[in-house]
Amino acid sequence: MSLAGKVALVTGAARGIGQACALALARAGADVALLDVADCSAAAAEVAATGRRVAVAGGDVSSAEDVERAVARARAELGPILCLVNNAGIVDNIAPLARMRPEAWERELAVNLTGAFLMTRAAVPDMVAAGWGRIVIISSVAARGGLFNQAAYAASKCGLIGLTHTTALEHARHGITANVVLPGMIATPKVQAMPPAILEHVHAATPARRLGRPEEVAALVAFLCSEGAGFINGAEIDIDGGGRLNTLVLGSQRELGRPPG
Ligand SMILES: NC(=O)c1ccc[n+]([C@@H]2O[C@H](COP(=O)([O-])OP(=O)(O)OC[C@H]3O[C@@H](n4cnc5c(N)ncnc54)[C@H](O)[C@@H]3O)[C@@H](O)[C@H]2O)c1
Repeated sequence: MSLAGKVALVTGAARGIGQACALALARAGADVALLDVADCSAAAAEVAATGRRVAVAGGDVSSAEDVERAVARARAELGPILCLVNNAGIVDNIAPLARMRPEAWERELAVNLTGAFLMTRAAVPDMVAAGWGRIVIISSVAARGGLFNQAAYAASKCGLIGLTHTTALEHARHGITANVVLPGMIATPKVQAMPPAILEHVHAATPARRLGRPEEVAALVAFLCSEGAGFINGAEIDIDGGGRLNTLVLGSQRELGRPPG
């Protein structure tokens, strides 16, 4: 699964799933550009330790100017961007629909959805010129089932599926693939800091009885960026320990009179 000679750009690369993706892509041989509003020095040091080249291109994915500047910088330092991982995302806006502020709704869509559009728009010309490209978009299982008190997040993550499908349709003939990954709950530091009662509930509702690991999402992303994944296009890939099955699992256990254990 060699990505030697390829340049990858990962958004939201300072920590969590994005940091793990940057490291996995570097280990697969790619030079990696890191884009984030936060300090990327820890992620940059990890990538550099693999022996690959790294560029830090700070910026806010919701700003067209920041995106153009960051992509131009990454390209100037490392070369044409052939793999793009649209990972940056926020979930700051926790409120029932009826009390959700329109400004908060708009901010979440701007970062999670418009950010991926702006990044894809800025990076795709390099891929078209090369006749080869890989775009991976990080959505969420929230795109499928919704989430209580997170209408903006769920809507933004659902929108990413439409963006992925259209990107795949428009650019398949250029040798470019676009796929969307839908993680369940992944044990990033932010998630691990959640109240224990919530984490226990997630364990119980996940057939695998555990959270996912950032490295597991990163391994999937690195594969989707590889040569071997060239005929996977427009796919929606759940990585959730079977969590999408839980209605059936919990329902059948209730039918049998057994609590999920
Ligand atoms: N952790 C999970 O359980 C989980 C589950 C499903 C989907 N996801 C998705 O995976 C992605 C990464 O999640 P995570 O848990 O690693 O999150 P995280 O909060 O740990 O990391 C997100 C990164 O994105 C950066 N970021 C935020 N806004 C930005 C902006 N406007 N411009 C550039 N960078 C920005 C942050 O600074 C941070 O480094 C997100 O899109 C998230 O919605 C996460």
